Amino acid sequence: MKGERLDRLLARLGLGSRKEVARLVRRGGVRVLGQVVRDPGFHVPEGASLEVEGRPLEVRRHLHVLLHKPRGFVTSRTEGPSVYALLQGFPTRALSPVGRLDKDAEGLLLFTTDGLLLHRLTHPRHKVEKRYLVHLERPVEPRDQEAFLEGLILDGKRTLPAELHPLEDPTWAEVVLKEGRFHQVKRMFQARGNRVLYLKRLALGPLELGDLPLGEARPLTEAEEGALYRAVGLRP
Ligand code: URA
Repeated sequence: MKGERLDRLLARLGLGSRKEVARLVRRGGVRVLGQVVRDPGFHVPEGASLEVEGRPLEVRRHLHVLLHKPRGFVTSRTEGPSVYALLQGFPTRALSPVGRLDKDAEGLLLFTTDGLLLHRLTHPRHKVEKRYLVHLERPVEPRDQEAFLEGLILDGKRTLPAELHPLEDPTWAEVVLKEGRFHQVKRMFQARGNRVLYLKRLALGPLELGDLPLGEARPLTEAEEGALYRAVGLRP
């Protein structure tokens, strides 16, 4: 196989824009298989070792970035303020969002360079769980929990069984969905005569938002990446 262009690979791994990494390569800052390579268009053989300014670089085929999205940002490249403005230092052109969060929602938003992973994570067939924290206009009622489990009709189609767990203050609740339809959480509460005042995604499959500060982004750890691929049957 021909391998990936060096500048593309370095940009994908988050070392800078294509222009920036090309400059780094021309300066002699990059070694492939121990040899300095000054051609940004050099095709890196699969599995070749890389060093950047004397430090070994772990080559991953794909990059996955977790963002703690604040309210007020749009999950779009073209509308602003865009979530991509929060991914500085990452190769934004190569990263696609796994589903969307509304402009007024916050929480876990994953980006990936892997189209197959993205497809599996967003396709309802794989039933990847998404966990949300919501604040509601009115308290959750026991009947709402049953209705979420039975499924509600949105756009003429029943939602998959969803969990609804009220917290101590029952105007706050956690919701677990196995699909991600347009404005789904808000529309499910609307169908129950209630209204979502605040919405935060806490988890996507095995990934947890944890204590990542609001507005910050980080690459997945190898353990998280492994768990994610296993969750959608792409690794044993
Ligand atoms: N459900 C919604 O209503 N909005 C989101 O952003 C995510 C899930």
